[in-house]
Amino acid sequence: MTKNTFKNDIYEGLKSTPKSLPSKYFYDEKGDILFQKIMACDDYYLTNADNEIFSQQTKELAKALASNNEPFDVLELGAGDATKSTYLLREWQNAEADFTYYPIDISSTMISYLENEMPKRIPNLKVHGLTGEYLEQVLEAHRISKRKKVILFLGSSIGNFELHEAHDFLRKLYDEIQSDDVVLIGFDLKKNPHTILKAYNDSEGITREFNLNLLDRINQELAANFDRSKFEHFPIYNPLTGACRSFLISQVAQEVKFGDGTSIYFDAFEAIDMELSQKFAVYDIDRIATRIGFHKQSYFFDSKNYYCNAIWKK
Ligand code: AVJ
Repeated sequence: MTKNTFKNDIYEGLKSTPKSLPSKYFYDEKGDILFQKIMACDDYYLTNADNEIFSQQTKELAKALASNNEPFDVLELGAGDATKSTYLLREWQNAEADFTYYPIDISSTMISYLENEMPKRIPNLKVHGLTGEYLEQVLEAHRISKRKKVILFLGSSIGNFELHEAHDFLRKLYDEIQSDDVVLIGFDLKKNPHTILKAYNDSEGITREFNLNLLDRINQELAANFDRSKFEHFPIYNPLTGACRSFLISQVAQEVKFGDGTSIYFDAFEAIDMELSQKFAVYDIDRIATRIGFHKQSYFFDSKNYYCNAIWKK
């Protein structure tokens, strides 16, 4: 990513009405560490629910995604530290399946890490990292190999898209893949609203810090003068729509200045729209699949029914 893309995206968001900032920019060096802390904190129930599915139903998941007789490629969109996919990859490797693992990430640092780390975790694992945008790199993987593709999009990352964006993204993915290819998508489910809200307003204040860190990042990279003590982290959950949204609220009327002379004005109690973490009912998940044309194959739930890993086939 070039410095200008960051700058343009930040200005575009802050000059819009209402103001917004792209949550993809949470993940700088400090943001990565804060996200790891969120994942490990008790209030963020998603980690345990998702890990429970991958650790307790590994064989069933592996079998539903690929048969061991036919060679295949595993594409993972935004692999992170690959904790969950490691369960599957290990299962296939133990079963002597013929496959290559293609982690896809926008960050080349992440990809180098995985290329180095994964064969240590799983001896003889074939890893071929791809750096860039997801949909472009899915095409690249098809150019490299014509084998059946198993595509993993885990950790509720789909929830960061507005619903129409999620549809567009998954439709483009559908158009790019071959018939019989399968996708495994992680959806966080609608549940008790208090439970959801707590996950985005944890008692240790890590999520608050995670949001405010983007203001620090903007200060550093664009020589701005955001005063983080004048912004308050405020998440809301709408149980009708399933949208959990985080805002930073300007506590006073204020002007923020940037190194290039740009000024942004905030009214008292004006909000910056920071992040959407969409929650789904099972029928929401079904409806997306049906609209796009995916065949629903199997759904995997944790014991509390907090989370769903859905397998769809083209
Ligand atoms: C990585 C997008 C799944 O939305 O739950 C965690 C990011 N934001 N706490 C989510 C996040 C605040 C997370 N995802």
